Order: sequence, then structure tokens, then C-alpha cells
Amino acid sequence: MLKKICHLGYAVENLEAAASFYRDNFGLEIRGPEPVEEQGIVAAMFAVGDSSIELLQPTGPDSPVGKFLAKRGEGFHHVAFEVEDLDSALEELKEGGVEMIDEKPKTGVGGSRTAFVHPKGAFGVLTELVELPKKSEEKG
Ligand code: CO
Repeated sequence: MLKKICHLGYAVENLEAAASFYRDNFGLEIRGPEPVEEQGIVAAMFAVGDSSIELLQPTGPDSPVGKFLAKRGEGFHHVAFEVEDLDSALEELKEGGVEMIDEKPKTGVGGSRTAFVHPKGAFGVLTELVELPKKSEEKG
């Protein structure tokens, strides 16, 4: 079901400061900022090899990442695995009785489709499944 680690999500208070840190000190090219309304975040990404780091700044204190920051502070937030077919992955997990945050796919960064597995059932790790937009669809 899982193809690779798509990205790791880091919760940050100040997206611009965090992006500058990685750009200036590690010479990385930062994509974004990109607002992702459905998740209550503004995100910036940078690639490291085949995977990426997703920097997440909440749009408000009541958003999921806003609550996370208030409770736990800045730092590692979630791991995202790439899947080929999110709908069938969700179906399989449902059959297995896996507790989900998102029963249905949401829209994520870059027009991806995404759903979160509840950390309670995943040994404390908030786990995201991502289906990237198909290249042929992007071209129309
Ligand atoms: Co993510």
C-alpha cells in the first residue's frame, strides 16, 4: 500500500522564519507558502532527495496544528506516506478497523489528496496518506 515516505511535517510558529532557516543554512529551495484551507494551514515544502519536509503554520489557534502548537510546541508533527490509490487504501484500513481522523480524502498541498490516520491507533505517530496528482491529469 505504501510507496515511500512522501514528507515529514514540522509544526512551526513562523513559516517565513522556518523557511529562511532551511534556505539560508542548508541552501534548500523552498516551495510556497501555500494556503491549504481545508487543513487550516499555510505550508512550505522543500525536497531532500526523493522526500520532502513540509513546514506547517496554522491559520489560527483553533485549527488542528494551532492546537498542536499550544499543547506540544514546535517540532515534528506527522509522517506522510505516498499511496497509489487513496480510496482503496482507506477502504482497506477501514476493513482492518484502523481509527482514522479523515474517513474521506481532503485536499492537501499541491492539489494532492490526503487523509490522516489517528495517532492513537498508530503508536502515537500522526500518519498521513497522500495520493499525488497524476501527471497526465495535471497536463489536462
Ligand atoms: Co503533510
